Amino acid sequence: MEIKLKNLKENILRELSEIKDSQLLEELKNKYLGRKGQLNEILKAVKDLSEAEKPRIGKLANEIKQELAEIFAQSEKILNPRDQQDLKFDHSLPGIKKDLGHLHPSTIVQYEIEEAFLAMGFAVYDGPQLESDYYNFTALNVPADHPARDTQDTFWLEGENLLRTHTSNLQVRMLEKYGAPFRGIFPGRVFRYESTDASHDHTFYQLEGLMVDKNINIGNLIATMRTLLSAVFKREVDVRLRPGFFPFVEPAFEMDIKCLVCDGKGCSVCKQSGWVELMPCGMVHPKVLEAGGLDPKIYSGFAFGLGLTRMAMMKYRIDDIRLLQSGDLRFLKQF
Ligand code: FA5
Repeated sequence: MEIKLKNLKENILRELSEIKDSQLLEELKNKYLGRKGQLNEILKAVKDLSEAEKPRIGKLANEIKQELAEIFAQSEKILNPRDQQDLKFDHSLPGIKKDLGHLHPSTIVQYEIEEAFLAMGFAVYDGPQLESDYYNFTALNVPADHPARDTQDTFWLEGENLLRTHTSNLQVRMLEKYGAPFRGIFPGRVFRYESTDASHDHTFYQLEGLMVDKNINIGNLIATMRTLLSAVFKREVDVRLRPGFFPFVEPAFEMDIKCLVCDGKGCSVCKQSGWVELMPCGMVHPKVLEAGGLDPKIYSGFAFGLGLTRMAMMKYRIDDIRLLQSGDLRFLKQF
């Protein structure tokens, strides 16, 4: 019995060494290791051996069976092309893309704008989201009881503090800290106590820009706006400039973009008007320059406050602002 087993193993290994395709390999495996295969026939005869022989031959037969099963498994991997990647490394294969997450659409737009502004000599700054009444309103020429406060519904905190309603809270902070000349942008999160709809959220992102130097004029402002738009859209987009009102800029403008969700036809994002309010801007008010410690007779500047979340909506034609903060992966995975 022992000799039979060893001969069987030798035969299998010899035949195996000549096999070149997986079909023949399967046939060989069935012939020897299958249910009705030669090895099982031998194993069946083990029960007829003497009590002294049974354990030794039984053990040997099982060892050979296991060894052959492993050899067949290896041979299958070599002959079956599907499994060849396990054995060889093909440098021409495309890389395996791991699902590591990606940037949020608002962040993509933010980085594109930052890159364009860094190239124009601006620096990127950050600042507090929990702010005082002074920097959010009073220093910006919006004293208590000024009606302009009503346009920015505020989450008030204890004392004179609040959640900043706009990134303009950094204008005077930056001038106090860095003086003039100054060129900076400040992207960040802002909060408003207002009911939400397709284009309004209670928490959203703005990107403020501030440039102060000698002889800054509206021409500088318009050129900068153009650079900003082409950085994000990389093509001509329809915009319109109309007079606006903000106590911290004079003159003040509202820059609207033709709604890219509906191509100007009218939808819930543009409230059927065909235009979306995107970026108020203007020349820095002398009182703001003074609050920042600068002499308005020497210095002038421009400021803008881009609705960054709305910019992302326009770029990617997103028809409801609330999707951006929903955390819904079915939405986020599209970017
Ligand atoms: C301001 O916040 C001013 N601080 C902007 C400014 C800066 C003017 C510098 C002049 C100079 P406004 O409240 O309009 O302005 O908001 C600016 C932009 O933020 C809007 O045009 C819009 O694109 C976006 N925005 C305003 N409210 C919301 C909201 N609830 N949800 C989403 N985006 C909003």
